[in-house]
Amino acid sequence: MILQNVMLFFLIAMRTNTGEFIKNMKTILKWSILFGFFVPFLFSLTEITQSQTPLTIGFSQVGSESGWRVAFTEATLAEAEARGINLLFSDGENNQEVQIAALRSFIEQEVDGIILAPVVETGWNEVLQEIKDAGIPLVIIDRNITADASFYMTRVASDFVHEGRLAAAWLAQETDGNCTIIELEGTVGSSAARDRQIGFNEVISLFPNMQIILSQSGNFTREGGYTIMETILLTENIDAICAVWAHNDDMALGAIDAMKQYDVDPADDILVVSVDAVPDIFMAMMNGDANATVELSPYMVGPAFTAI
Ligand code: AHR
Repeated sequence: MILQNVMLFFLIAMRTNTGEFIKNMKTILKWSILFGFFVPFLFSLTEITQSQTPLTIGFSQVGSESGWRVAFTEATLAEAEARGINLLFSDGENNQEVQIAALRSFIEQEVDGIILAPVVETGWNEVLQEIKDAGIPLVIIDRNITADASFYMTRVASDFVHEGRLAAAWLAQETDGNCTIIELEGTVGSSAARDRQIGFNEVISLFPNMQIILSQSGNFTREGGYTIMETILLTENIDAICAVWAHNDDMALGAIDAMKQYDVDPADDILVVSVDAVPDIFMAMMNGDANATVELSPYMVGPAFTAI
């Protein structure tokens, strides 16, 4: 501010001749004080007033199906607090109807913005139209939706296809391109599950001796992974299985539990690769029970808040 004031003073001085400058010294000083100190002071007061009015943002989260999801929720709550945002959090319980009800309640409460982490891709059009009609800015986060782009400002997400590719590339390298694979799929209808599958299949299709022999949805949960793996261990020829490819760490951890239960050595008898990089999968790796994971950062909400 001092620099600003000095510059202004000299600017006025340069525009006047020496006689006038001395004569009008008092006027110059008065204006330079007004513009150099008083006006910036008023602007700073306005900024303080604005930043003291917190934004109210509604956040409809998928649920708490996985360790990654819980970390994502915690990171979002912490970021809201750090930014002074009044966050209305709603747990969608892995149910689209619950999420739609939450979105409608956000509209009723006349929030300043909405962030939607959708459980599935389709079926949102009606409520998105209602959000648009209410003039509330919407940001999609994490999984994708199939809807006209005019319904939302932007989407903050990772590249699920690439995650699938990375998991397959690791497995191809580890097995020299020879592997029969069990796939534990994420939630049916979610873009995370579909795109990871696309990326993984894209890479293994380059290797004639890599095939998925069984694919089932464990809904991104540990219980889901356990149940599917238990059935496989009881019905399939275990020696024919080279690897478990799970769309997330929680399902991989469930499958690992099942293997241990049925005296199969995870990570040795059957390789385990997944996505998320939650602490529990690193523990499993340290114990020699898991092989690889692809990192998905839970720190996503910052750009969504900034956009709103
Ligand atoms: O949409 C991202 C996925 O959802 C995570 O990989 C999984 O853990 C979560 O349930």
